[in-house]
Amino acid sequence: MCGIVGFSGFRPAANILIQGLKYLEYRGYDSTGIALMVDHKIQIKKSQGRIENTEKLMALSSDQFHQSTSGIGHTRWATHGKPSTENAHPHKTGHVVLVHNGIIENDLELRAGILARGHFPLSETDSELIGFLLFDEMERGHSLEVALRRVSQTLVGQWSIVIMSEREPGKVIGVRNGSPLVASIDSEGNVMVASDAQPLLPFTQSVTFLEPGEMVVGTPGLLMFFDLLTGRKIHREPTLIKWTADRMEKNGFPHYMLKEIYEQPKVFTQTLQEVLLPSSSEPFNFANEKNSEILLKAEEIILVACGTSWHAGLLGKYWIEKIAKIPVQLEYASEYRYRETCLRPSALVIGISQSGETADTLVVIRDMKRKGVSTLAITNVQGSSLAREADAVVFTHAGPEIGVAATKTFLCQSLSLFLFAAFLASKRTTQNSDVLSRLRRELNFIPKILNNISNSTIKNSESSEILRAINPILNSLGSVKGFFFMGRGHCFPLALEGALKLKEVSYDHAEGHASGELKHGPIAMLDPSIVVVAIAPQDPWYTKNRSNLEEVKARGARILGIGTYGDTYLQSICDYWLALPAEAQSIHSDLLPFIITPYIQLLAYARGVQLQRDVDKPRNLAKSVTVE
Ligand code: AGP
Repeated sequence: MCGIVGFSGFRPAANILIQGLKYLEYRGYDSTGIALMVDHKIQIKKSQGRIENTEKLMALSSDQFHQSTSGIGHTRWATHGKPSTENAHPHKTGHVVLVHNGIIENDLELRAGILARGHFPLSETDSELIGFLLFDEMERGHSLEVALRRVSQTLVGQWSIVIMSEREPGKVIGVRNGSPLVASIDSEGNVMVASDAQPLLPFTQSVTFLEPGEMVVGTPGLLMFFDLLTGRKIHREPTLIKWTADRMEKNGFPHYMLKEIYEQPKVFTQTLQEVLLPSSSEPFNFANEKNSEILLKAEEIILVACGTSWHAGLLGKYWIEKIAKIPVQLEYASEYRYRETCLRPSALVIGISQSGETADTLVVIRDMKRKGVSTLAITNVQGSSLAREADAVVFTHAGPEIGVAATKTFLCQSLSLFLFAAFLASKRTTQNSDVLSRLRRELNFIPKILNNISNSTIKNSESSEILRAINPILNSLGSVKGFFFMGRGHCFPLALEGALKLKEVSYDHAEGHASGELKHGPIAMLDPSIVVVAIAPQDPWYTKNRSNLEEVKARGARILGIGTYGDTYLQSICDYWLALPAEAQSIHSDLLPFIITPYIQLLAYARGVQLQRDVDKPRNLAKSVTVE
């Protein structure tokens, strides 16, 4: 999705904007640009491709350009119009310049009117049209703010815009009508606006998330908020973000993805400690009193999510039904939003989303709220739309995840869902206290086991025992037509997630299957060109998995087994073998997904590196999918 950043203050803006765009790279993009106010004139540098291409243009610019103290920047993820310099933002129309995130749905109608008034748009984008509308409104004598408010009433769609005008140098104005926008002012009086909090954090951790229908006006030393419709000034309390800028650096790792996989012991602990409070009388202090009331009323639970978050939801379904004995429906948000749902008033709809901005998930939550159904958000981003719009919110504590492919957020989502299941069980006494006590005790062992898996003190591709085992396997594979991940029970969601991760970062073909389903069709594809990744620990489904592996072996496919330490039988029928840590043998099988998760993530990571992919910013992907 596109990324927006704006700055006006007392420092040179050019590099601040570029660094801000780099913090937004994870959103996915195909072109970039910045506009600076230089001696009351707007100068633009923009290019197709990576941010570095725009930096090269800047290097050729004048000293005045680099001394400018206000500007806007953009990373474009193409929707209307191919990736090109002409279509890249910022777009300048006369004295007005803008950057835009979102989609203007009535663009054809607007374009016709603009052409009829004798304007000639240079790009194929819907965004540029907004500039002509603003220009015309200011030609009618309106100020920049009034012009923006009037134009906003004519636009249909989900969008956020940040603009400047040569007539009002130093002023940066942003409006939010869907796509997120965050603003801040630091102790020096530097003001910033961006698509999310990360570009702002090097200046301040106190940020304000605009609500849809709000406008922010920033000038050096002053930040004000207005209602877009009425123009009335409004007061907005800032949010203190717990993340700090240094957590967004690679800190010596070759890739954010590897760093974030290795952060899992720490973030698992942080998410766990929010619930297993030593001081609390509650065994699973999952929710405060207000939220507990909402959650405990639930007679049926509907989980809605997309992609990786849906896979966490499948794990959650298994745990909630088994531990809390409550029926759970798991739905793809993009499908569920169009379904005629027949929910009882006692239903609880839970939106799972690391970004908290996924359009499909948001639409479902908004729809459910309209219907009076209770909603809960499980998200990683404070101030995100999902966090603010659901009736209750539980934050995962994964910290900023820069890698586009979800890794640590998946683990923390899964943990939050497990803790939710245990919370419900403890409150409803649907699980005997011995089991809950064991689960609570053993949860505390997980970070130590995870730490042994990913020794994050060494920051290269040989930095963990698993990678030292995986790399030779991948190097010996030769030609591979595809990967089939298989798993039963709690390992079925991991098979799905392992396949998705591999696809995302290596672009290899990969499928995730319930082990028992292979014989109902996919087995027809098995031959030596297929590598079957069998997730088969000694859990309650182990014996059945062994039978499935024999079927796979008989068809000549190659098997990469992930199994229990010391399982010599399974190791003997696999062509390649990754053993879980010995300590995992004493862990309750319900908790094994937490131990297996880094294996599937590191397998995908190593394959992506082997194939020289951009594992942090895979092609075509975006970190938060804010379009439907
Ligand atoms: C994650 O690796 C994927 N890129 C993608 O499937 C993602 O999980 C999905 O878009 C949902 O995102 P969300 O968790 O922010 O809602």
